[in-house]
Amino acid sequence: MRREKIKSVTILSIESSCDDTSAAVIRDGKLMSNVIASQKIHEEYGGVVPELASRAHQQNILPVVDTALKRAGVERTELSAIAFTRGPGLLGSLLVGTSFAKGLAIALDIPLVEVNHLQGHIMAHFLEPSEEYLETTPSLKGIEIHHPNYPFLCLLVSGGNSQIVKVEAYDKMTILGQTIDDAAGEAFDKCAKVLGLPYPGGPWIDRLSKEGDAKKYPLAKPNIAGYDYSFSGLKTSFLYTIRDMMRAEGVSTVAELKEKVPNLTEDLCASLQQTIIDILLSKLKKAAKEERITEVAIAGGVSANSGLREALTDYGRRYKWKVYIPPFSFTTDNAAMIGQAGYYKYFDGDFCAIDAVPYAKTRI
Ligand code: KG4
Repeated sequence: MRREKIKSVTILSIESSCDDTSAAVIRDGKLMSNVIASQKIHEEYGGVVPELASRAHQQNILPVVDTALKRAGVERTELSAIAFTRGPGLLGSLLVGTSFAKGLAIALDIPLVEVNHLQGHIMAHFLEPSEEYLETTPSLKGIEIHHPNYPFLCLLVSGGNSQIVKVEAYDKMTILGQTIDDAAGEAFDKCAKVLGLPYPGGPWIDRLSKEGDAKKYPLAKPNIAGYDYSFSGLKTSFLYTIRDMMRAEGVSTVAELKEKVPNLTEDLCASLQQTIIDILLSKLKKAAKEERITEVAIAGGVSANSGLREALTDYGRRYKWKVYIPPFSFTTDNAAMIGQAGYYKYFDGDFCAIDAVPYAKTRI
């Protein structure tokens, strides 16, 4: 293993846990590039098809890594280590990133650093984009990134997870509560599918909610002890609300119902979104109060939701929290966040064996 005196540390990171192939370069703590190839193929199936996802990763990984290195202005021989997402995620998808990372690490004779995908989402709050990256990323123009102080609470909400995590250090995270069934993102996506919206439905519901009345359709909220969440009952409540309206209107499809009830889609979207936000934030409020923590962050794909961002900011004002909301580009799956976690692990000498295999399920 190459272990000369460290002058400059350059980490290439790879993320392939679901349907985004991503590679990023972090040099001396600064994000130099972050390339994401999203897979459109799943749209026509209304959800991620694992086999198609892993095939698309195989096609994307080489150009994505190549582009990330070029944009960063970094040669392969300058890399200090390769960080990769080991899990949780889709096994076939993870295998592509893991195998690629291992092959490159062997070829370059540099260490491999495994990163937990969920930990990565939280570490997105510590990214420091370089001047060059900021200049070439219009979505980050004028955005100031503030890093939370430890300990902080992080509401981690994505397509596969809904958790409240107490973060005391990059490697000391405790799950205070989590979903006992579906994730919040899944509730967004599945309900959107019922309404005939494209996949992924979360961003569509977000957009349509702006034109709807959030009080129009009261939906069921779960009654779960502690800090845990549940979203399966909400999905059923959403479905039954539509079914009952279809019966009342004497129609047999959602499309026909939409013709009969003005603003139906928008009002249902707004009602659903508000219910999900209420469920998420009520438990977060309880955790912040009982843990006496006032630094509060959100992370994961659902943290892109504009209603959730506004509501969290409002809670921050009301309960005197310091709130941390990541820029949009760092909310959904990306390799930059994996690189950030990998960068910390690199300095701790926390490398993984070359025979490491990915895992579909794991905790933080
Ligand atoms: O973190 P992520 O990219 O992938 C994983 O699940 O790991 O999260 C994807 C989820 C999807 O369920 C998607 O619908 C949701 O994030 N999402 C949103 C929004 N943008 C993405 N949900 C609500 N509002 C949004 N604006």
